[in-house]
Amino acid sequence: MPNLQSSLTSVHNLLKEKIKDCSKQEDVELLRIQYLGKKGEITAVLKGLGKVDPKERAEIGKLGNQLKNEAETLLKNQIEIIQNNYYTTLAKNEYFDVTATPSFSYMGKTTGSIHPISKTWQKLEEVFTSMGFSIMDGPQIETDYNNFEALNFTDDHPARDMQDTFYTTDGHLLRTHTSAVQVRAMQKLNPPMRMIVPGRVFRFEEIDASHEHTFYQMEGMLIDKKVSVSNLLYLMQSLLKNIFEKEVNVRLRPGYFPFVEPGFELDMECLICDGKGCSVCKKSGWVEVLPCGLVHPNVIKSGGLDPNKWQGAAFGLGLNRLVMMHNHIEDIRYFQNPNIEFLNQFN
Ligand code: PHE
Repeated sequence: MPNLQSSLTSVHNLLKEKIKDCSKQEDVELLRIQYLGKKGEITAVLKGLGKVDPKERAEIGKLGNQLKNEAETLLKNQIEIIQNNYYTTLAKNEYFDVTATPSFSYMGKTTGSIHPISKTWQKLEEVFTSMGFSIMDGPQIETDYNNFEALNFTDDHPARDMQDTFYTTDGHLLRTHTSAVQVRAMQKLNPPMRMIVPGRVFRFEEIDASHEHTFYQMEGMLIDKKVSVSNLLYLMQSLLKNIFEKEVNVRLRPGYFPFVEPGFELDMECLICDGKGCSVCKKSGWVEVLPCGLVHPNVIKSGGLDPNKWQGAAFGLGLNRLVMMHNHIEDIRYFQNPNIEFLNQFN
């Protein structure tokens, strides 16, 4: 039935013409409804198929389907063209020059400043790389194995309670200390080796002037044939001298950590109150900044090394406390909830 065929073709040609004028996706959608919808024009023509001589029906049906498919493709292509045009125009008109001089200033300044923690972090990396240490990194979401078990904390070890832990629902945890990287480091770097791990750690803590749930540590570890407490002390002293650029009063106390033996707490005199006692040092005049010790043979074993051949020393520097001492910051909460006025002091 040539009639139906020519109506199909002319409807199709009309669609072809109209679609070129569509510059919005909504217009394309309207056309789709107008031509291919339940009450659409192509659909309407095809509805007439029932009345056609069965001999011709197959042929016209075929043409109908073919034109329908073509129409679908036309609509789809037009949408693509519209989207491409959109992004091309956007790219042309909306851009910013990251190298441009800012036209605004805040409190008289046009540039940001480096966060005090980052500053100390960078400085420590310089100091340690100059002493032959490599810098390592590790994931913040850790396995119980790396954070505890490999470090000589057995399952029911009471020392696990020393570090209140955030657990994930799939059995991982947010690392409670950068010591979690010790075993990875021993496995990765061939001894003798020295490495530091600066990074973020998490504890499920009650928050106050000296406790945060998120803070920064820097782990240090060295493995060699012979390592002694005096090596460790020398390292700690040069470290503090470098940071504070002067001699600071320190004291060494025995400290318990399952992964070191012997273990120590190195305290420094509180520089906020000059040892008189304040909220940061909890009125004691001393602040714990450097827990350290000689690496426990079980940990050396976890690292895949023979504890009869290798010895180690490790320390875990509390970066926040150190920066607080260095800059006379009296509340640890400033680091996590910084405001621009606080940060500008370090510009
Ligand atoms: N990882 C310990 C802590 O966060 C500190 C530490 C590191 C102690 C290395 C000894 C040796 O409490």
